[in-house]
Amino acid sequence: MEVTNRYITIKTSIDGAPKESDFEIKAAALPLKVELGTNTIIVKNLYVSIDPYQVNRIKSFSSSQTAINFAAGVTPGTAFDAYGVGKVVVSGNPEFEEGDLVVGLITWGDYTVVEPGAMLRKCDSMALPLSYQVGILGLSGLTAYAGLFDICRPKKGEKIFVSAASGSIGNLVGQYAKLFGCYVVGSTGSNEKVALLKEKLGFDEAFNYKEETDLKATLKRYFPNGIDIYFDNVGAEMQEAAVANMKTFGRVVVCGIISEYTDAEKRAAPDMLDIVYKRIKIQGFLAADHMSVYQDFLQKTCDYLHAGHIQVLEDISSGVESIPSAFVGLFRGDNIGKKIVQIAEE
Ligand SMILES: NC(=O)c1ccc[n+]([C@@H]2O[C@H](COP(=O)([O-])OP(=O)(O)OC[C@H]3O[C@@H](n4cnc5c(N)ncnc54)[C@H](OP(=O)(O)O)[C@@H]3O)[C@@H](O)[C@H]2O)c1
Repeated sequence: MEVTNRYITIKTSIDGAPKESDFEIKAAALPLKVELGTNTIIVKNLYVSIDPYQVNRIKSFSSSQTAINFAAGVTPGTAFDAYGVGKVVVSGNPEFEEGDLVVGLITWGDYTVVEPGAMLRKCDSMALPLSYQVGILGLSGLTAYAGLFDICRPKKGEKIFVSAASGSIGNLVGQYAKLFGCYVVGSTGSNEKVALLKEKLGFDEAFNYKEETDLKATLKRYFPNGIDIYFDNVGAEMQEAAVANMKTFGRVVVCGIISEYTDAEKRAAPDMLDIVYKRIKIQGFLAADHMSVYQDFLQKTCDYLHAGHIQVLEDISSGVESIPSAFVGLFRGDNIGKKIVQIAEE
């Protein structure tokens, strides 16, 4: 049997803010069979993750492209790999059977041909919706958990500021920190999102950064005695304002700098005297380096989910054709929570 495999690609490298017209859908015939002995499998993609880091993969150059395998540049015309969940439809690998659910690197397309050695494993949904594997129980959840607990090492009662707080990672950082016993303030890009953070997710405070004219003064208002931990998802002027408001021995964890990804002119220039004299620690990290906390993360998050202590924010679109707008929307703040595209029915 043969199917048509549609997949998303870029027409040329994109430096700057991506537009839907930069992407195209290609289609190719895919025979649903594998050669015996190759250990190849074919996966029907079900849910794929839509992540900001992909924008650095489509640039003509980004230092991130050589830092780690999964961030390698995407060649125009070829398929994107992305985190996601799928179902095995053909297996030439004794470790997988037809019908197995799998999670790991698949493609922004209908099907993925998975060669041996790829980052893919069998998936146990743990009696929770399968889409959770892409967000809260996937790399987004691990990133929030590892960045907060493995790097910042909060103490109960500490005061935490998180940016892009209604996004996939930010909302979880805030919820984990509240459950742990910290005071949490989030910044986000609309008044609707501010209300959600305070009323549904239990943040102590939240503000719309687009309505603020002096971010240093804004943070002084929310943290009159200073910030213990800043979980940075956006970089640039928000990072500068947070550093200016850190307490002595404060910690800044740089998870991402989305406001700088699409604007080569934008660069955080925090006051280095503050960093020296307030003995502030700034640390970047990649979730993939923190697999040592994976079991702890999974157990605690599943317990919170089953007990109803954590809210799941998902923003799900449908169909391969919706991937470009879903992706471009990340940089406009269209999403609330984890952006996922459902490719096919389970
Ligand atoms: N270190 C790691 O291992 C790792 C892993 C995954 C992701 N990340 C990083 O973590 C950050 C959050 O990723 P995510 O997957 O959770 O995405 P997300 O927050 O779900 O989506 C992106 C959000 O960023 C905000 N945003 C977009 N452009 C902005 C700008 N110019 N200034 C301020 N905010 C802007 C928007 O919300 P608003 O309404 O708030 O504007 C948007 O909804 C990104 O920087 C990403 O690269 C790091």
